[in-house]
Parts: sequence; structure tokens; C-alpha cells
Amino acid sequence: MTVTFPADTATRAILAPGLEGIVAADTILSEVDGANGRLILRGRHIEDLAGHLTFEAALEFFWRGLLPMQQTRTTAEALATARLQAFATAVPVMRAAGPGLGIYERMRLGLSALCCDDAAEDSFAITGALPVLLAAASRIGTGEAPIAPSPTVASAEDLLRMLTGTAPTARAIAAIDRYLVTILDHGFNASTFTARVIASTGADMGSAVLGAMGALKGPLHGGAPGPVLDMLDAIGTPERAAGWISAALAKGERLMGFGHRIYRQRDPRADVLKAGLATLEAADGRVALAEVVELEAVAALARHKPNRPLNTNVEFYTAVLLEAAGIDRSLFTPLFATGRVAGWCAHVAEQRATGRLIRPGSRYVGPMPAA
Ligand code: COA
Repeated sequence: MTVTFPADTATRAILAPGLEGIVAADTILSEVDGANGRLILRGRHIEDLAGHLTFEAALEFFWRGLLPMQQTRTTAEALATARLQAFATAVPVMRAAGPGLGIYERMRLGLSALCCDDAAEDSFAITGALPVLLAAASRIGTGEAPIAPSPTVASAEDLLRMLTGTAPTARAIAAIDRYLVTILDHGFNASTFTARVIASTGADMGSAVLGAMGALKGPLHGGAPGPVLDMLDAIGTPERAAGWISAALAKGERLMGFGHRIYRQRDPRADVLKAGLATLEAADGRVALAEVVELEAVAALARHKPNRPLNTNVEFYTAVLLEAAGIDRSLFTPLFATGRVAGWCAHVAEQRATGRLIRPGSRYVGPMPAA
């Protein structure tokens, strides 16, 4: 259908404060099918990608045709080079910044330092840097020296190694790869939309990624999984779940890890991540507790908001999986950025290829001048 707007498009008044139902672009990258609880990345179901591909292989699949691929070296080699470059250029700036910065803020500082030259337009340099920035920010925060990357291992393994200084298990590496691929891309979520808005102004890719990191931080987006574990800790035992959840809802609180703007079914990524738990050793009783909390929460939310389907979202099992893989909860949002950066870079490229300046209007409801 072709819609004809008045010549003065500012007179077009569609008020949608959260932009629900507004389609802002066509994309070949991912489809979030909320009605059917389905996620497709470039023609493949998320269930056929996560748990099957390494992060490196997923990049080759996801970026093809949009971002310059490596001709003379493998994706793994390009990312390894990027890790070394980030350690040399960004980590000294992060170390010099003093103790006051949080992990995420220190990562953003490192990315800013990296993106002041050609790296600002290099999707490999940016994507490869994130594991280094995460591990370094974490260690600087606890007063430990950052560990240099290894060019001979892949991103997931090197990330775990740089965090702890010890060789990770194959199961932990597989869990991180599964997680990073699961969260690679997800339609026009808030951080991706932010990246596209910034890219639409002609700004560099590094600026778009830095802006997207800001949007990801909030608890309604990428900041939810840490609070999921706080909730599980507060509940403590399965028999306390129903009472705790009812009390929280009665106080008007939101249950972290539930609800979604688009999904009206269970978020398919929840099961993809839950499947990853099968090979890990979670703390005693953790998975059983999570399963009871999930059942009770979904039932309580159905009673609480009978007209609004509220189901488990990606963050619930993100929290349980990453905890079982040995990741501290303070690193959950930084790790989300480490995978989603691949989606942001692809959307920047797509925005440049097919988009135009994103500049919605607003309706003025303030006072008018006297004359
Ligand atoms: N717990 C309790 N109530 C919830 C809820 C939750 N997790 N999610 C939504 N609701 C309620 C809202 O309070 C709202 O009630 P109201 O109409 O009385 O104001 C109603 O359901 C509709 O929610 P709405 O705010 O329109 O949903 P949204 O599309 O704007 O928000 C989320 C989607 C994800 C932000 C929201 O579900 C949420 O805050 N979830 C918890 C945080 C989370 O898990 N974030 C990670 C997302 S992947």
C-alpha cells in the first residue's frame, strides 16, 4: 500500500510514544515474530545457529554481503588481531582512568580510545575489541592487572582466559559461544535502533556502537539479567517463590526476565539458552529453583495482567546460564554488548546502504507565546 503524506510531513500526526507498531525500515538481518515466538537471522532459525556455530562462524554467516569480509585471513585471525590492537591502544587508557569507573563505563572509555582513527570504521576492530575491554575493565575494577589476549584461540575462549587467567573448560567455552550467537541480533530493539539513528546522521560506526551501548545498559533492555539473579537469591527456595512473586507484583514491581515488547509467546531464546545448561554444572538447586520461579511468575503475571501475555524472555535463562558458566553478574550487560556488537555493526552497514536520516517529529503541547 502506498501512503501519500502532505507535502509538509510535519503535519502528519501519528502519536506512538514507544513507537509500537511503527515499522521504520526493511531489514534482511533478523525477524522477530512475536505472534509465533520465532526468531530468524538471515533466513535461519535461531535454534539452528546457537549451540551449532562459534561466534566467529556466526559472524561470517551474519555479516556476509554487508560488511567487508576478510580475504587474506580467517575471521578468527582478524578478531585475534583486533584483540591485540585493543589491548595495546585501549587498555592503557582504561588503566589510567582511576578507580571510580564502573566496568561498563570503563569499556566505553576503551572503545572511545580505540575509535579515534581507522578502527572507528572497522567492524572487526570494534567487535574483536569488546572481549578485551570487558576482561580488562573487570580486572582493573578488582585491582588486578589485565591479561593480554592470545592470538591462537577464538573469542569465547580468550574472553574467559583473559578474565580469570586460567584455561577455561570446553563446556564453558561452548556456553559462551552459545550465548553470544543467541543474542547476536534481534530486530529493532532499543540499542540497535539507537545505532541506526546514529548511523543515519553519517556518524562513524564506533560512535553508533558507543551510543548503542548506552541504550543497552538500562534494566528494561540489557540490564535485566543481573537483577534476575538478585531475584532468585531473594526468593531462595522453591516453596517461597509464589509468595515472593505475589508480594512483588502487589508492590507494583516488574519481574525481571519476563515480558517483551514484541513477543506474545515465550521468547525462543529462553529455550536456546536453557538447553545450554544441560552440559554445565550449575550451583546445587539453582536450575530447579529457576524452573519453579519461572512457572510461578508466568502464572502470576497471567493473573496480574490477564489481557497482556507476559512470558519468559531471553534474560531469565541468560542469568542462569552465565552464572553456571562462571560469569559474575556484574559482567552480564557487558557480555551482552560483546555479542550484540555484531548486530549493531551489521545494522550500521544496512542503514548506510538503504536508510535515510531518521528524524521523527514530536507534538508540541507546551504553552504558546502570548502574541
Ligand atoms: N513484571 C510485571 N509487570 C510487567 C512486566 C513484568 N516483567 N512486564 C510488563 N508488565 C506490565 C507493565 O507494568 C504494564 O502494566 P500497566 O499497563 O499497568 O502499566 C503492562 O504489563 C504492559 O507492559 P508494557 O510496559 O507496555 O510492556 P513494554 O512492551 O513496554 O515492556 C519490557 C517490555 C521488557 C520492558 C517489560 O516487559 C519489562 O519491564 N520486563 C522486565 C524487564 C526485563 O526483563 N527486561 C528484559 C527485556 S528482554
